[in-house]
Amino acid sequence: MTSPLFSPFALRGMRLQNRIVLSPMLMYMAGEDGRVTDRHFVHYGARALGGTGLVMTEVVAVTPRGRISPCDLGLWQDEQVEGLRRLATFAHECGARFGIQLAHAGRKARLEQRPQAPSAIAYADDHAQPEALREAELASLRDDYVSAARRAAAAGVDIVEIHAAHGYLLHSFLCPLSNTRTDRYGGSRENRARFVLDVVEAVRAAWPAERPLAVRMTAIDHHDGGVSEADGLWFAGQLAARGVDLLDVTTGNLVPGYAADVYPGYQVRYAERVRRATGVAVSSVGSLASADLMEEIIGAGRVDLVCVGRELIRNPNWPIECARRAGIDIELPIGTYARASGPYERGF
Ligand SMILES: Cc1cc2nc3c(=O)[nH]c(=O)nc-3n(C[C@H](O)[C@H](O)[C@H](O)COP(=O)(O)O)c2cc1C
Repeated sequence: MTSPLFSPFALRGMRLQNRIVLSPMLMYMAGEDGRVTDRHFVHYGARALGGTGLVMTEVVAVTPRGRISPCDLGLWQDEQVEGLRRLATFAHECGARFGIQLAHAGRKARLEQRPQAPSAIAYADDHAQPEALREAELASLRDDYVSAARRAAAAGVDIVEIHAAHGYLLHSFLCPLSNTRTDRYGGSRENRARFVLDVVEAVRAAWPAERPLAVRMTAIDHHDGGVSEADGLWFAGQLAARGVDLLDVTTGNLVPGYAADVYPGYQVRYAERVRRATGVAVSSVGSLASADLMEEIIGAGRVDLVCVGRELIRNPNWPIECARRAGIDIELPIGTYARASGPYERGF
C-alpha cells in the first residue's frame, strides 16, 4: 500500500522525508537572553528523533519587545544564532529538516513595556493598551525581520515561516478590528496588507533563493467585521505573487475565544481553497492527530503538509508509530529503535 503521508515532498531546495510538520508551539523555556536552552534541545531533538519530517520551532521574536513573554526565543542578536545552529544540525543528523517561525507578538505581548500594535486597541481587558506604531518604526521593524532571517540563514535553518496569524502583529495589521489607522497602512484592504507584504518581500529578498519561505496566514477571522474568507483568499494571492512557497493556513484568534466548531481537520477546507486559488503548496493544522485522516487529505490532493501540535507534545514518536502501524518502512534516526518493532517486538 502507498502512503501519501510518508511520501517525500520538496519546496525549492528543501526535501522533506514525509509530510509531518511539528506545528509551532511556544514552550516558554528561554531566559531573558532569548537563547536556546538544553530543554529546547531535548524537546526539538526528541521530535526529530521521532520521525517528524519538518521540525518547526515556536515563535522566535524579531525584537525583544516583540516577545509574547520574557521566556520566548529570539533572533535579534548574533549571540542567539549558535543555539539554533545546534538544533538545525541535530535535526539534519536525524534526517529531518528544521524551520523557525519569525514573529512579533504585537498587542498580545505581555511584558513590562507596553505592547506595540497598528492602533491603540487592547487585545482584551486583561491586556495593556498598546502604543500605535509610527511609520518610521515600521521600516525599522521590517529590517528586524530581515536581520533575523539573515541570522537564520547563518544558523543553517532550512525554512523560515513568517507568523501572520493568531492576532499577532502582522495579523492585527490586516484586520480592520485591530487596525483603524488613517495613514497608508490602514483603511483599504490593500493598505492594511501593506506592512505584511513589505515584510514578506524584504525577507524573501534576503533569504537564500534555494530555501523556501512560508507564511502562517489566517484564512478567516470568524468574527463580524474581521478578515472574511474572500479577504483571506485575496491575501493568499498577494503572498503567492511575492514568491511565498508554503501557505500554512489557520483561522481565528484575533480576539479571545474561537467562534467556530472544532473537530478533526476543522481547518482543512480553508487550506484546500487557498491551494486551489493560488496553486501554492499549503499545510493545514488543527486537531489533526489521525494518520488515516491525514492520508486522505494528502492523498486526495487537498493539502500538501500537515502540522501536528498537541499530539506531538503527547508523543514525540508519533510519526514512527504511524509508519509502523501502516507497515511503512522508514529510515529510523537511531537504528536500535527498530528493536521496538517487527521481529524484535518481544524485547529479546
Ligand atoms: C502550547 C501551545 C503553544 C502554541 N504556540 C504557537 C506558536 O508559537 N506559534 C503558532 O503559530 N501557533 C502556536 N500554537 C498553535 C499551534 O501551532 C496549532 O495551530 C494548534 O495547537 C492547533 O493544532 P493541534 O490541534 O494539532 O494542537 C500553540 C499551541 C499550543 C497548544
